[in-house]
Amino acid sequence: MNLSRTARTFLTLAVVAFFVATLIIVSPVFAAHGESATGKKAILLVAFGTSVPEAQPALRNIDEEVRKAFPKTEVRWAYTAKIIRKKLLKEEGRRIDSPAEALAKLGEEGFSHVAVQSLHTIPGEEFHALSRIIRAFHNMPKGTQKVTLGTPLLTSHEDMQRATDALFSIFPKERKPCEAVVLMGHGTHHAGNIYYPGLQHYLSRKDTNVFVGTVEGYPSLDDIIAELRAKKITNVWLMPLMSVAGDHARNDMAGPEEDSWASVLKKEGVTVRCTLKGTAEYDSIVARWIAHLQSAFARL
Ligand code: CO
Repeated sequence: MNLSRTARTFLTLAVVAFFVATLIIVSPVFAAHGESATGKKAILLVAFGTSVPEAQPALRNIDEEVRKAFPKTEVRWAYTAKIIRKKLLKEEGRRIDSPAEALAKLGEEGFSHVAVQSLHTIPGEEFHALSRIIRAFHNMPKGTQKVTLGTPLLTSHEDMQRATDALFSIFPKERKPCEAVVLMGHGTHHAGNIYYPGLQHYLSRKDTNVFVGTVEGYPSLDDIIAELRAKKITNVWLMPLMSVAGDHARNDMAGPEEDSWASVLKKEGVTVRCTLKGTAEYDSIVARWIAHLQSAFARL
């Protein structure tokens, strides 16, 4: 039988189409592709955690903002601090998952793709530990297949610029230019501590009377006091540079004890006013974490 040219072309195309379709169905490479299109996606928010009830509004605010940005996505929480999780369970009967527990549960419930957002301020020990945990949850048989990680508040040059702008937007409106703002960061022995003096650079370019100090790293309160003395500054606004105004902000920064930052500065003859709000209570700062989450979600 002689087939016309058109019919032969049609037959060839049909055979090619059949093989391509077969390939798409049976090939694991293509199958993985199909899976990612249909796999359930979730968001896991990971904070250090806090057991201070007054600090809860900060975490609630992040929760609300994330749900507004991702109204159709499952949102879960985990705390990295084991000591806080234990305390909450013992004292309030509240069970908060560790990141590994939360990821295991999500995998079990059929969430194959999870965007994890670190709510830490800098990429220090907590963040790097989280990134190791996440690596373990890739291609889990019958569990999570892909897990992406959103970076902390301060990670890139762009973060520093945008976070600096956001910080300036939350400084007290009553502050006069000759008065200093002193931000209290956590600080760490981890190499990531360099982000605090790093942030100082960006802050100083905008305003030389804004300082960042840390409880456990560099710069210390002594370093800040030396700067205040040199500039003869007698008025200071103290603010936490931590997502929640928990134990450090309430006690080490603003507390009545002799060695709190407020007490030490007062002894220096400085007038001190304290703001007791975590950075996560301000939408302009939360927007930065959400931008990082959006990028992690897009990578799923
Ligand atoms: Co601490």
